[in-house]
Amino acid sequence: MEKHAPVAHPIETLLQRRWSPRAFDPRPVERAVLLRLLEAARWAPSSFNEQPWRYIVTSQEDPERLKEAQSVLSPGNAWATKAPVLVCTVAQLTFARNGKPNRHAFHDVGAASENLLLQATALGLFGHQMAGFDVEKARAVFQVPEGYEPVAMMALGYPAALETLTEEQRTYEQRTRARRPVEEFVFDGRFGNAIEKKTG
Ligand SMILES: Cc1cc2nc3c(=O)[nH]c(=O)nc-3n(C[C@H](O)[C@H](O)[C@H](O)COP(=O)(O)O)c2cc1C
Repeated sequence: MEKHAPVAHPIETLLQRRWSPRAFDPRPVERAVLLRLLEAARWAPSSFNEQPWRYIVTSQEDPERLKEAQSVLSPGNAWATKAPVLVCTVAQLTFARNGKPNRHAFHDVGAASENLLLQATALGLFGHQMAGFDVEKARAVFQVPEGYEPVAMMALGYPAALETLTEEQRTYEQRTRARRPVEEFVFDGRFGNAIEKKTG
């Protein structure tokens, strides 16, 4: 299912096509494809090129591990148990170069994940990030060491038909995609100063 963003100004089609579906086909994701997605994450920009992102990948290749990953999800994200790949994204909280706190660690993990998701979209896959998971359980299940923090879970896979969802999930899936208008989040020089709506 495609759900192009109804943009107010033209943007790249790939950006319009990325979205967060719930209907995943259990069809496995080929290892070579998975590596291409992770390679895309690799080339994200980061503060001091620290690359504070870590990706803990579980897939249908190891059903036990995948099941453990599913167990950290909140009940509201049960749809993600159909996905053949579940990833836990993790941030390194301090700079490797000097041990000081990296204030941009979560920021940079997000940037890398968006790279990954856009590459997935280009290859006909989809991803759906989730804050709805048990962080402490994830820390234990994935053996995340001190100094690192689980950021989000991410379901990855090929899209499935809408009919594979429950009625409630289907309603969610079919909602129109919406965003605040640019004028609401872009300010002119000072926080809160409205930008002038210029057309030319
Ligand atoms: C960090 C993060 C956490 C999210 N957590 C959840 C979640 O727990 N469950 C869910 O269904 N969607 C979750 N989402 C998906 C958002 O709801 C979705 O990105 C947003 O509604 C915009 O829709 P779009 O991605 O289709 O453009 C999350 C997205 C992000 C980036």
